[in-house]
This record gives sequence, structure tokens and C-alpha cells, in this order.
Amino acid sequence: MPVAAVTGAGQGLGRADCLRLAEDGFDVMCLDLNLDAARETAELCGGTAFQLDVTDRAAVFAVADQIPECFALVNNAGIWNFPSILDVTEQQMQSVIEVNIKGIVWCCQAFVPKMRAGGGGSIVNMSSGAAWTNSPDVGIYPATKAAVESLTKTLALELGVDNIRSNAIGPGLIVSDGTAGNFQGDRANERAQGVPMKRVGAPADIADVVSFLCSNDSRYVSGQVIYVDGAITAGAMKR
Ligand SMILES: NC(=O)c1ccc[n+]([C@@H]2O[C@H](COP(=O)([O-])OP(=O)(O)OC[C@H]3O[C@@H](n4cnc5c(N)ncnc54)[C@H](O)[C@@H]3O)[C@@H](O)[C@H]2O)c1
Repeated sequence: MPVAAVTGAGQGLGRADCLRLAEDGFDVMCLDLNLDAARETAELCGGTAFQLDVTDRAAVFAVADQIPECFALVNNAGIWNFPSILDVTEQQMQSVIEVNIKGIVWCCQAFVPKMRAGGGGSIVNMSSGAAWTNSPDVGIYPATKAAVESLTKTLALELGVDNIRSNAIGPGLIVSDGTAGNFQGDRANERAQGVPMKRVGAPADIADVVSFLCSNDSRYVSGQVIYVDGAITAGAMKR
């Protein structure tokens, strides 16, 4: 059974990705800062739970070293709740760079040798529509996701020779455990009206594209960013 490692697997998009990849026949490593949450996901998908902080480089290598080969790495763990750029603190700056950018680099360093050992693989990095549209209410976050997209393309160039593909997904407005508070009451409908497709997304909308990017159907797709957002990033809408 091919192995898929998913970070931030304890809830939201990461959990949905684990469930879908398990359905696709992967043996799923459910990696999360929160071990109890990772265990719940692992129980649901028949995978294995690991406590992992993606910012801890040594810990990332220790987890990867538990398997001989890996086919899919989904770098999903991310944090997003930040004040305006003028108000962001040094500690907040540090944490968002550590999780959203460095975490991906450490996971690739640790898991790519496992992909090479198996003859190839697929990396899927979770970006955000905000990397493209920007968003004044989350400050520094869009800049980190723009960096994720840049990393994604560089990885595709560096790893193509190893038959390893690297792509990113840019989710739009997705109701997850983490974002549910933004969709309470009338807010859900109000926000849906701003989406060309007139609905907000569900974690499964993202997981289906993760599934495609980890499948043979996407065998010649690399270095791309796929926005899964009901067309929010397609352009400005006539109001
Ligand atoms: N939900 C959305 O609308 C949306 C939109 C665009 C992009 N995204 C991106 O998708 C990803 C998942 O979003 P979500 O809404 O499911 O988030 P969420 O907050 O619901 O879940 C994030 C998970 O990541 C884990 N995590 C946080 N820091 C970690 C760390 N250092 N190491 C390991 N695990 C860690 C948390 O414990 C949690 O289980 C993020 O990268 C986010 O930026 C989400």
C-alpha cells in the first residue's frame, strides 16, 4: 500500500484529505500538533496518528524515518489568524513563517528521500486564494501563501528529474473547524453571495482535488496552483 503523509491532519481540510486518500487506497500517516485530534482522524480513516509540530525539523525527520517509502506528502498545516501588517508582533511574524513556510521545507527535506526510494511521488502544498486576491483582514498571511506557491514551483523544477511532482491548491472560502466561526448565522449566506458560484466550500471540495493530484490521472501535472474556490480568484465580479 502506498503511503501518504498529511500534516495538520487532526481537523478541517487535513482530516478530509486523510479520509479521501484512505478511500483511494493509501496508508495514511495522520500528522498533527494535537495528538488526540490526529488519533481521531486515524481512527476514521484506518491510518496511523503521529504527534508532529512541523516547525520542529528534528521531529519531522524522526517521523519520516519510521517509513521506508512514501508516495504522497500533503503539506496542509497552516495558521491564518493575524492582525493588519502594521499591528503584527514579532512573535506572530515568527510563528506564521515557521508553520506556513519553514514547515513545508522541513517536511519536503524529510519525505522526499522516501519518495525517491519508491521511484517518485506527489507533493501537494496548501496555499490559499488569498495569495492571489490578498485580504486585508489577515495581514501577513497572504504573503506566506504567496511564498508557498513559489516554493511549489521551485520544488517542481528541482524534483521533476526524480519523478516527483509538486503542486499547490488554493482553497477559497471553505467552512472548516478552524474557519467555522466566520460563517455563523447570516455571515454564511452573505459570504456565499460574494462567490461567483454562490456557495462556500466544504473540506471535501478540496480533498477531491488532493486525491486527483496524488493519483496517476495527474501524472504530467507539476508546478501548478489549482484554485478551488467557486471562481473567486477568476476576477472581479459586477455587483
Ligand atoms: N478553511 C479555509 O477556508 C482555507 C482557505 C484557504 C487556505 N486554507 C489553508 O488550508 C489549510 C488547512 O486549513 P483548515 O481550515 O483546515 O485549518 P484548521 O485550523 O481547521 O486546521 C489546521 C490543523 O493544523 C494543525 N496545525 C497547526 N499548526 C501546526 C503545526 N505547527 N504542526 C502540525 N500541525 C499543525 C492544527 O492542530 C489543526 O489540526 C491551512 O494551510 C490553511 O491556511 C484554508
